[in-house]
This record gives sequence, C-alpha cells and structure tokens, in this order.
Amino acid sequence: MMKTFQLCVLFFVLGEVLAVNMTIPNTVIRGTHGGEAVLSVSYSSFSADLPVIKWQLKREKSVTVVQSIGTDIIGTLRPEYRDRILVFENGTLLLHNLRFSDDGIYDVEISITDDTFTGEGSITLTVDEPISKPYIHTESSSILELSENVVLNCSHENGTRPTYGWFRGGKPQSNETRFSLSPDKKLLTISRVLMADDDIYSCTVENPVGNVTSIPFRLTVYRRSSLYIILSTGGIFILITLVTICACWTPSKKEHNGISAVTSLYILQQKVSVTKMWSLSFEIFVKFHNYYL
Ligand SMILES: *[C@@H]1O[C@H](CO)[C@@H](O)[C@H](O)[C@H]1NC(C)=O
Ligand SMILES: *[C@@H]1O[C@H](CO)[C@@H](O)[C@H](O)[C@H]1NC(C)=O
Ligand SMILES: *[C@@H]1O[C@H](CO)[C@@H](O)[C@H](O)[C@H]1NC(C)=O
Ligand SMILES: *[C@@H]1O[C@H](CO)[C@@H](O)[C@H](O)[C@H]1NC(C)=O
Ligand SMILES: *[C@@H]1O[C@H](CO)[C@@H](O)[C@H](O)[C@H]1NC(C)=O
Ligand SMILES: *[C@@H]1O[C@H](CO)[C@@H](O)[C@H](O)[C@H]1NC(C)=O
Repeated sequence: MMKTFQLCVLFFVLGEVLAVNMTIPNTVIRGTHGGEAVLSVSYSSFSADLPVIKWQLKREKSVTVVQSIGTDIIGTLRPEYRDRILVFENGTLLLHNLRFSDDGIYDVEISITDDTFTGEGSITLTVDEPISKPYIHTESSSILELSENVVLNCSHENGTRPTYGWFRGGKPQSNETRFSLSPDKKLLTISRVLMADDDIYSCTVENPVGNVTSIPFRLTVYRRSSLYIILSTGGIFILITLVTICACWTPSKKEHNGISAVTSLYILQQKVSVTKMWSLSFEIFVKFHNYYL
C-alpha cells in the first residue's frame, strides 16, 4: 500500500519533470532577402541524451525543413534547403541566403527518449527587401492658391510590404479636411491650396526591416494677386517677341529667307532664355487657362 502511494508520488513528480522545457527569446524574427535568420531556441532536460529536433514550416500541409539528432541532420534536405541550413546544439535553426518563400511560421519540436513530454514552440519569420530611398513626385511643384488640388505621390523603387507616412514642416500629417490620404497613404491630396501650404513635405516608408524618409520636397504656392502682375509682365514679353519676329521676317528677300529665319529664331531663343519670367508666366498662364476652361 505504502509502496503504491510512493510510486504514485514518484510518477507524479517525474511526470512534471520528465519534459523538455523549451525557451524561445523572440517569437518573431524579421529577415532580409538574401540575409540570414537565427530562429533561436534553447531547452532543458533532466536527460543527458541527444535530442531529436524537428523544424517544420506551416503550410496547408506542413513542410519538414530539417530533422536532426543533436546537430546531425537526418536524411537528405529538400533541394530548396540544401546548403542553407544549420542546427545548433540548443536546437536553434540558422537559415541563410533567405528567400521570400521562407516567410512563414516555423514549428519546432524537441524530444528526448527518456522524457515523457516533447518540447514544442513556434517562431514567425518574415522575409523582406529593404526599402530604397523614397521620393515625392507631383505634376507641378508650384501652384496657385485656392484654385487647385495637388497630389503628392510617394514612390520608391525597391522594398516589400511598404507602409507610408507623411510630414509637413517636419510634423506628422494626418488625414484631415483639406489634406486627404489615400487608403494606403501613398498619396497626399491637398485641396483648395492655401498660402499656408507653402511648406516642406516629406514621406516615410516603413516595412519590417526598416524605415526610410524621402528627400524634403518644397511646395511653392503663388498668391492669386501675383498672377495678374506675372500675366501682364508676360504679356509684354510676348508682344516684344512677336514684334521681333515680324520685324525680322518682313524685310528679308526670297534668297536670304533661310538665313533670316535662323537669325530670327536665334533672337527668339535669346529673348526666351534671358527672360525666365516669360516662361514662368507662360506656365502659370496655361494652368490658369486650363482651370477656367
Ligand atoms: C523552463 O525554463 C525556464 C527558464 O530556463 C524556467 O524559468 C521555467 O521555470 C522552466 N519551466 C519548467 C516547467 O520547468
Ligand atoms: C542557441 O545557440 C546559438 C548558437 O550558439 C545561439 O546563437 C543562440 O542564442 C542560443 N539560443 C538561446 C535561446 O540561448
Ligand atoms: C533596386 O534593386 C535593384 C536590384 O536589386 C538594384 O539594381 C537597384 O539599384 C535598386 N534601386 C535602388 C534605388 O536602390
Ligand atoms: C504614383 O507613382 C507611381 C510610381 O511612380 C505610379 O505608378 C502611380 O500611378 C502614381 N499615382 C498617381 C495617382 O499619380
Ligand atoms: C482619409 O479620409 C478619406 C475621406 O474621409 C477616406 O476616403 C480615406 O480612406 C482616409 N484615408 C485613410 C488613410 O484613412
Ligand atoms: C525609423 O528607424 C529609426 C532607426 O533607424 C527609429 O529610430 C525610428 O523610430 C523609426 N521610425 C518609425 C516610424 O518606425
């Protein structure tokens, strides 16, 4: 009677102890495409025997990544894992030359014959490409107050799973009345532009392996009143240019037509390049025109 009781107590105590106790410091590991990932685990057991370690990748049907006795890999690895895998004594899995297809949840089991219970755990691995420097682009970086909507587009060449954010004058810009963000936040639309929107804008792109901020982008807003001054100044230059063309064309004789045309074209070019104002006013004139027609 006493013996049975003792056995029961012994079994109960051992039942608690005879298990592989697994420790996982990080359950999410963020890897970079082409880089390496350490899926770190450790275990403790009363037995000194070598453990059987099994790593599986969760899929519709789980894929056995590797199975080992201690650090010795059992059998042959699947082709996609050859030369990319190492198992450490503590059960940790090292994967190098990471591929996007390595992204997923990894289940690990460590069992030791003497122990009644197997240690189990899982680690999520993400594989991403770092984001390259983003840039802001838009149809025009100079606009006229009140009349226009401007769409700022945050783009980047490389990088997976991007999430976007915006700054205006160094402060985070949220989705509010005149500043609307597209659902993915890639586009910032400013409606009925005000003089106060003349500012420095930047966007930031983030993914599991980092975040990058764009080069600052300057949005220039022109006052409506300045339009008339520019337009009238521009008008005068257009007039002068037209007069010059006419003056050059009229006196030319038939045989010298070619040369005269070249000369007047040269004069025209001179006028245009000398007066930056002219092209600016023209640009604004075209927009003004488009807006009201
Ligand atoms: C498992 O190991 C951890 C750390 O080594 C320890 O804190 C914990 O108490 C152990 N659990 C059991 C059930 O032995
Ligand atoms: C297991 O061992 C590896 C290699 O020595 C080490 O990098 C890792 O941190 C260890 N894991 C734990 C949880 O101690
Ligand atoms: C994007 O990735 C390609 C290929 O890896 C590389 O050649 C290119 O320089 C990268 N672009 C930027 C802006 O980093
Ligand atoms: C924003 O830029 C991206 C890449 O340059 C382009 O594919 C996309 O069409 C642009 N979106 C808008 C609304 O301009
Ligand atoms: C910003 O607001 C607009 C309109 O209310 C909405 O359509 C859009 O999805 C919002 N964007 C974000 C990122 O929440
Ligand atoms: C961006 O990364 C830097 C370090 O590179 C970090 O200090 C900062 O908090 C990150 N910002 C965001 C929004 O995650």
